[in-house]
Amino acid sequence: MKLFLDTANLQEIREVASWGILDGVTTNPTLCSKEDMPFETLIKEICSVVSGPVSVECVSTIADDIVVEARKLNQLAPNLAIKIPATIEGLKATRVLSSEGIKVNMTLVFSPSQALLAAKAGASFVSPFIGRLDDISHFGLDLVQQILTIYENYDFPTEVIVASVRHPGHVVEAALMGAHIATVPYAVMEKLVKHPLTDIGIERFLQDWKKVINK
Ligand code: E4P
Repeated sequence: MKLFLDTANLQEIREVASWGILDGVTTNPTLCSKEDMPFETLIKEICSVVSGPVSVECVSTIADDIVVEARKLNQLAPNLAIKIPATIEGLKATRVLSSEGIKVNMTLVFSPSQALLAAKAGASFVSPFIGRLDDISHFGLDLVQQILTIYENYDFPTEVIVASVRHPGHVVEAALMGAHIATVPYAVMEKLVKHPLTDIGIERFLQDWKKVINK
């Protein structure tokens, strides 16, 4: 399973990149708004830290405008994926951009039918937002399973990015289902590795090691 970091914060990206497990980054307008740097400079900098795909979102809503904006964004770095919301205009733009070889990440996906159409339009990635579904008492992970089944049934090459991840359980369940990618906020990424029994175990071993070297 590939792990992406869901942030536009360079410090967090550099930190997780140093762990040796980072496969990519996803940003969105909200995440970018939290950073104190001009947008294009920020995206170029992120793309230089991470070799895998970095998703950056289009804010245009009409197909022709999305295409123009996506082509411009795509020139910022060689490892970009362009996020386009799952709308009819987004599908039209995705068809044009994917045939030009531009990687599209169809975002704000909340239904299996949206994911089916995203794959048919040639999206490289599809991002079901599972936490936001959980927030309204749906089961976000059910959506991930449905999308994976549909893609498997028809051999679609589109990769599923499990997005809007809230806790480690989301990542584990997505991995058990065989989802290709999870994009994870920094706080959850830390929780993926931390375990109190590991810390207690280290502490005990260090104490006992003192007895060994003092013999
Ligand atoms: C994914 O690409 C999005 O940036 C993100 O996962 C949205 O998560 P949120 O629902 O926590 O805002």
